[in-house]
Formats: sequence, structure tokens, C-alpha cells
Amino acid sequence: MIKATDFGKDFLWGVATAAAQVEGASNLYGKGPSIWDHFTAKKGKIKNAHKLDIACDFYHRYKEDIALVKLLGFKVFRFSIAWTRILPNGRGEANPQGIRFYHNVIDECLKNGITPYITLYHWDLPQALEHEGGWTSFSINAAFNAFVSICAIAYGDKVKNWIVLNEPFGFTSLGYMLGIHAPGKTGLTNFFSAVHHTALAQAEGGKILRAEINKAHIGTSFSCSEIIPNTGSDYDILAAKRIDCLVNRLFIEPALGLGYPTEDWDLLEKFNTEFSTWRYTERLKFNFDFIGLQNYFPITVKYNAFIPIIQAWEVKAKSRKKPHTAMGWEVNANSFYNIIKQFSSYPNIGNIMITENGAAYHDQLINGHVEDHDRIAYFNLYLEALLRAKKEGVNISGYMVWTLMDNFEWAAGFTARFGLIYNDFKTQQRIIKNSGYWWKDFLSI
Ligand code: FCB
Repeated sequence: MIKATDFGKDFLWGVATAAAQVEGASNLYGKGPSIWDHFTAKKGKIKNAHKLDIACDFYHRYKEDIALVKLLGFKVFRFSIAWTRILPNGRGEANPQGIRFYHNVIDECLKNGITPYITLYHWDLPQALEHEGGWTSFSINAAFNAFVSICAIAYGDKVKNWIVLNEPFGFTSLGYMLGIHAPGKTGLTNFFSAVHHTALAQAEGGKILRAEINKAHIGTSFSCSEIIPNTGSDYDILAAKRIDCLVNRLFIEPALGLGYPTEDWDLLEKFNTEFSTWRYTERLKFNFDFIGLQNYFPITVKYNAFIPIIQAWEVKAKSRKKPHTAMGWEVNANSFYNIIKQFSSYPNIGNIMITENGAAYHDQLINGHVEDHDRIAYFNLYLEALLRAKKEGVNISGYMVWTLMDNFEWAAGFTARFGLIYNDFKTQQRIIKNSGYWWKDFLSI
């Protein structure tokens, strides 16, 4: 049986959340609208037309929720700051009630012996900035930098651990290429201009935190997935390489000073030359103290000539008859190990933290209990894979579970339950699932 102590006594165990997914109070206390408030109001975008106005009501219940973090035994609580709570219109004067709220959350963590990790951007862009083009517009960078400065100055004395962005590939691809997340834009031109401004924000955000905060420990997070060619054919292997450039390499390589990964895909080379602004290798670089890896599934890729440009297609876990979660995401702990090894093989990578990992299942509340054996099995497998990588010398210092409690899972609304705690969205009653108790035992030794 795997034990927390196998990871060493300094290993950090945490649980992660994000503002838009839990806070609610979406138009209260001076908060402005975000792209997610706007997107959820559109027809057909979110499962069951679920909205963000109440979510988990964390805004009013943060004390009880932080008490639950403590009860489960986690020493780290990761949460994000809603940009529109601080700056309702994206820029300008800070909203004192917004500033106060995160002081309260931070103070509550510190009072309970929990170390806060703050994510500056977890996808809830101010709608006012989206009117200017959002991440596709050059004006976003000055606005983001000003927001980072305000947060660093307000909280930097109390909070030393920062994550600049949450999954840049996640929000630029889903929100600006595929249109299934806010703001619902599509197409390669939107995507690549969003990518460039986001990569700049990633490095500049880091530089501002470094300048403003004494002894800051600065990271940023990346979604990552092992990319597996469906067969050994050259076509499938090349298709997998293209997807790897996008999914895994597009944001980490510029941060490491390597520029965009142009050598393995001529499309990226084309953009690199076409957008003169892409010649920014030095500006895109920042020496992060830690790299946050977030992994949920591998992607099996098949060549497909009918898919424009990318000429690749995912072969889903279900059609390959592989175990998968309620999201259809393949459960494959070996691919978790492989992707950690892939990222750790960059020569100048530094320290790694797993800033998100977890699984959604069709949880049932029966007689006051949620017996989520699948989730417990998932954590056992994934933690074993993590330990294997650590024992082989990968410099990993922490692991954060996604997520504390069931919450608003973006386009899936409240239907996808990822929490260690079951949330009854009608009553806001929190019920610790068996997996929550499993973590409590795991961490209590
Ligand atoms: C990640 C997001 C997080 C959550 C999990 C399931 O990509 O960062 O907010 O939605 O997936």
C-alpha cells in the first residue's frame, strides 16, 4: 500500500479550486461580468443551461470550506483570484470589496496552518476586455500586467506561492479555436494570436511577481497529455508529433527560452515568420521556480487526411474499450508517469509540482454516503506512478488533487463531479465522499 510518507516529509499535499467554478456571488459586491458569466447566458453552450451565479457559494462559505481542507489533512489550498472581482472592467481602480475578499480567504488559510497557492488567471477574463478582442488583442498584455501588479502588491506580504496561468493551451484552444469554452471564438487566426499574447502574459506575469514580492516562489501551470500514435505507421507518428507540439510544447518551450516548437511542424514555422511579433524568444522566457503539471488523460492519435491543417484525429478511450471516467477520459496511470518523464527531460526545467489531477465519476449519494471506489482506485494508481517517477530522480515537490468539492465544470455545468466532497447544489450541503476519507487516512500518518 502506498503511503504519503513514501514521498518524503517535505512533500506538499494540496487541493485545488478555481474562482469561477466555486465562488458564486457572480454579480455581487462590485464584481464585474467575466467571459464565463457572459458565455453561460448564451443558449446551448452549457449542459442543462447551468449558470455561475451561485455555484458552490464559496464566497459566503469559504470558512467552512477551508475547515474541510484542514479536516481532510491537506497543507496547501490552491485557489484563483477572479480578475473581475478586483477590476470589474478589467482595468482601472481596484474594487475594495474584491481586495478584501481574498484577504479574508488568505487569512483563513493562514489561521488554519494551510499554505495558499494563488492562481492569477483561471479562465475568467473580464468581459470588458473581451470586447477589445480578449486574448487575441495586444491590449490584453498591459491590462493583465496591471492586474498582476495589484494582486502582488495587495497580497505579496502574506502569499509567497503563485501560479501565473492555468493551462494556457486549455483556454486558448477550447475558447479561441474550438469555441466550446468562453468566449466561444473559433479559427486558427484567433487561436494563434491568443497563443502569442498568452505566452507573453505568462512570462511578464512571472517577471512582475519577481519584482514585487520578496522571496516569491513562482510557477505557472500546463495541461499535459502523453500523445500516443494509434499505430506504428509513419502517418500516425507524424500526426502524434503535431499534436504534441500543440498540447504539450507550445507554452513550456517559450518559457524555457526555446521559442515556439517550430522545427517539428511547418505550420508553426509559418506563424512564427508571419506574425513578426512571434520573434520574441527573450521576452517569452521566464525562469519559473516551479512548473505546474496538470494531467488527466493521454491522447491516442490517428492520421486523418480529412481534418484540415492538423490532419489528426483522436481515437477515444471508449472506442478502444479502455477504462475511462465519466468525462470519457482514459484512466492510464502509466501515461501520467510518461508525461512527467517527458517534461522532466527538458534540461533546464527546475522543480515540478502536480498542480491538478483527479477524476469525475457518476457519484451517487445514498443514505448520506458516496461510495466512490473508482476514484479511490484512480488515486492509488496515479500516486504509484508519481512515486515511480519521483524515485527515479524526477524533481517533484508536491501534488494537488482536483478538486475539493463538486463544482461548475465549465461546458459540463454541474453534471461532472470531480470533488472529494459531494456538493448538493440545491442545499449547498457538503458531504465528504469515501475518497475524501481515503485522503484523510492517507495524509494522517
Ligand atoms: C482542468 C481545469 C480545471 C478543471 C479540470 C477538470 O483542465 O484546469 O479547472 O476543469 O480540468
